[in-house]
Amino acid sequence: MKYLAKKYLRVMFLVLSTFSLVPGADALDQIRGRLLYETHCGECHSESVHGRRVRMAKDYEDVRQWVKRWNIQLGAYWQSEEIEDVTAYLNTVYYQYPPTGIRF
Ligand code: HEC
Repeated sequence: MKYLAKKYLRVMFLVLSTFSLVPGADALDQIRGRLLYETHCGECHSESVHGRRVRMAKDYEDVRQWVKRWNIQLGAYWQSEEIEDVTAYLNTVYYQYPPTGIRF
């Protein structure tokens, strides 16, 4: 029993450490962010927009503001949690700015 518990903890640790790409950002949140982004936003800009050398978004807050702007533009009605998830996803994949102002 004790052995199993230890083994379970080890597996959990491996799973968590594998998926937490950004400290503090939940892996599941980022998966949701990715799905939301690919469903609503992916058709217009592919990697090129976020990956271009001269980016509009200069820091984490900027990325969040862009996500908010597009959310309004598209009438997607995302709540702050969804906005945070998409911001975290984009930041992990493209921007890699130090996350700021995350509040749930
Ligand atoms: C109708 C097409 C279209 C859709 C849909 C769209 N975008 Fe954009 N997006 C653009 C264009 C074009 C730009 C570049 C604006 C510029 O260069 O002035 C841009 C820029 C951005 C940027 C800034 C990129 C940078 O330079 O750092 C972010 C972030 C962004 N969009 C997020 C989103 C999100 C999130 C969604 C979905 C909610 C979304 N966009 C949906 C066309 C679109």
